[in-house]
Amino acid sequence: MCTHPMHAPILAPSLLAGDHANLAASTALVAAAGLTWLHLDIMDGHFVPNLSFGPEVLAALRRAGSKLFFDTHLMLDEPHRYLEPFAKAGASLISIHIEPAYDHPAALARIRTLGCQNGIVLNPGTPAAAIEPLLGLVDLVLVMTVQPGFGGQSFRADMLPKLRQLDQWRTARGLDFRLEVDGGIDLAHAAACRAAGADTFVAGTSFFRAADQPAFAAAIARM
Ligand code: DX5
Ligand code: ZN
Repeated sequence: MCTHPMHAPILAPSLLAGDHANLAASTALVAAAGLTWLHLDIMDGHFVPNLSFGPEVLAALRRAGSKLFFDTHLMLDEPHRYLEPFAKAGASLISIHIEPAYDHPAALARIRTLGCQNGIVLNPGTPAAAIEPLLGLVDLVLVMTVQPGFGGQSFRADMLPKLRQLDQWRTARGLDFRLEVDGGIDLAHAAACRAAGADTFVAGTSFFRAADQPAFAAAIARM
């Protein structure tokens, strides 16, 4: 029986829910809440029916002095074409979806060669088995708990068994990738995901709309 210790919980606020006229100020709120991670949602209008922002925004936030861990979630049909620009712009971790067709192991290896951590992402309709062969190659697995494309959607509790499966494989194989959830996460849903094995929690709406962001951050840290 493997007794790999659980990773400490990390809250990664999604800048998608921040103030797009003042992203530096929204980024500063994350640091002021005592957090170390910022989640950046990159959308191409093809893989998801929405557009967000590109590498220049990451570079500008770095120039403005942000030292946060940039957890960069690429919702792109051809993510392998954009790895270098995001790494150069200051990404700390780059996660890419399993659904589009490209050489996934090569792209994951390339992310590490560029000096970043890597992650693989599953849409709600994609089973855990789709990424099982890749689990030994990644620093993070991101389980979408909404259909990606927009903030402010409702959490899908039917993703909890997928988390349990991934957590079980992680333990049984002695792997230590982080297990992240993204979409509709508030404190109660984060707790349910934590019980299912998740250790990294993206929160857009619930963080940026919170009356007391440091208190929300502290509550996640206590889980
Ligand atoms: C959805 C994005 C999420 C989103 C989360 O496509 O990947 O990161 O910003 O926002 P909330 O927490 O509002 O669901
Ligand atoms: Zn995301």
